[in-house]
Amino acid sequence: MKDDAYSLVRFLADTRRITGGGHIEKELIARLRPLVQRFAGSGTWREPHHHEVSPEQGFGVHLLHEESDHSLAVFAISWLPGRGTPPHDHGVWGIVVGVDGPEKNVFWERTDDRSRPGYAELRKIGEKVFAAGEVVAMPTGTIHSVCNESDQVTLSLHVYGKHVNFTKRSQFDPEQRTERPFIVKID
Ligand SMILES: [Fe+2]
Repeated sequence: MKDDAYSLVRFLADTRRITGGGHIEKELIARLRPLVQRFAGSGTWREPHHHEVSPEQGFGVHLLHEESDHSLAVFAISWLPGRGTPPHDHGVWGIVVGVDGPEKNVFWERTDDRSRPGYAELRKIGEKVFAAGEVVAMPTGTIHSVCNESDQVTLSLHVYGKHVNFTKRSQFDPEQRTERPFIVKID
């Protein structure tokens, strides 16, 4: 059943009650997860321009909300067929829900001791294709890469504890063994 009543305003009010509750991150994610899933599925936030994608970047980042201190950032992100992101972290927790089409996530872990600036060794630890309605819950420190292997533009709803361009997060090249800043273009 379509949940027409679950607006961005209601979702934010529910979310702020939880983020203000002093929970440890694991508990926070567990409590937020069903709300983000409900909000993503409600479709109340959707606009046609969310399918617009930056050709250079391969994906389109549409900001729905952030607090004045950049916390609690909500994005609709669309992905061109055959495109995606390099492995990256977020510098904060994140919860992603598939909306239109499947998106493949590959999960990585660092295997170096983080002592050399700009250097990183990564090992692939798993992968999963997330269909519409499925949730990717990522505690701080999660490293993943995303790819749209379908033949259509896909769309997912993303909620982060802080706008990801303000967390000093990183992107990685597992073959070149490099780490560098990851700033995305906001559409
Ligand atoms: Fe990500």
